Amino acid sequence: MLILGIESSCDETAAAVVRDGYEVLSSVIHTQIALHAPHGGVVPEIASRSHIEKIPSVIRRAVEEAGCSFGDIDAVAVTYGPGLASSLLVGLSAAKGLATALGKPLIGIDHIEAHIQSAFLAPESPRKEDFLPLLALVVSGGHSAIIRVGTEGRPRVIGQTLDDAAGEAFDKAAQLLGLGYPGGPAIQKAALSAHGELGYEFPKGHISRDNPALGCLRADLCFSFSGLKTSLRTYLQKNPVRDEEHRNRIAAAYQDAIVDALASRCAKALKSGKCKGFAVGGGVSLNAALRARLKEVAEEAGVPIFLPEPKYCGDNAAMIAALAGTGAGIRGDAAFLLDATPNLTFA
Ligand code: KG4
Ligand code: ZN
Repeated sequence: MLILGIESSCDETAAAVVRDGYEVLSSVIHTQIALHAPHGGVVPEIASRSHIEKIPSVIRRAVEEAGCSFGDIDAVAVTYGPGLASSLLVGLSAAKGLATALGKPLIGIDHIEAHIQSAFLAPESPRKEDFLPLLALVVSGGHSAIIRVGTEGRPRVIGQTLDDAAGEAFDKAAQLLGLGYPGGPAIQKAALSAHGELGYEFPKGHISRDNPALGCLRADLCFSFSGLKTSLRTYLQKNPVRDEEHRNRIAAAYQDAIVDALASRCAKALKSGKCKGFAVGGGVSLNAALRARLKEVAEEAGVPIFLPEPKYCGDNAAMIAALAGTGAGIRGDAAFLLDATPNLTFA
């Protein structure tokens, strides 16, 4: 079964062909970072226009590089949410048109669930199905969630950020520190160059139990990053950056706070969740300090950890086609009726 995946939820235009859910035959990603960098973040209007311009050639290349033809494709899978409405619409419209023209099924895929699948895309990687129930941490520029995938394969959010996403926290800090966009790689690079401690700890995003935004989620599995950003701003007002070393130490302390917030909540979830494995995905999962810390957390909990290859950490379409290949997603006539769903959450 060959599935063509299409992804356009944010600032990457991507297409990929995956065989039987696990074998990636091609994965083409056109990133818009250079277009958004001068603005310090993603501009939706610029993003959707670029998707429209690039999507035909990205899809064509994915099919060519897979060594097949459009006639060989058995189904078209596409992200329908969450993400930017005007960006999602481009991929969704392309996929509906293509599936209709080819006379093939359309499969609507949840972007966050697909990030979990990205941890199982390496050629030697085991099958996700063998590690259910599975705990997953998805951390990107738009989302930060701890998810439990049950034995029947259904994902459920058990913890999340109550405000900013982890990637957003990195991006905003980089802006405050004058380190450019995207912030994650810039903060990581600065943190790596720090030669000593800052001597100041940023808050670890703890949530009080009576926070109304929790709904039915556990306070000790949720986190907040908006206070962290504010505390950096306050710190910088009182302690303006003195030199390169000072900036690097601030970056390292800030990164520590994010890593600690995420890792401590995952450790708690693994303690209480009786999971067989731990998967991580999303752009922030590229962060070396986070990867190292999460490996320790998994080891302490006695479960295997599955981390995506760097090329599958950020947004890509291989994860979309792969997840569709495992049987997930909206299918049949319902798929052709799907609308772009910016705030899509698991049912
Ligand atoms: O998954 P992704 O490519 O797009 C979204 O769906 O948001 O994630 C992008 C985010 C950005 O906020 C970027 O700063 C962050 O991932 N990121 C990192 C690193 N590389 C990218 N954050 C921390 N450390 C990194 N090395
Ligand atoms: Zn993403």
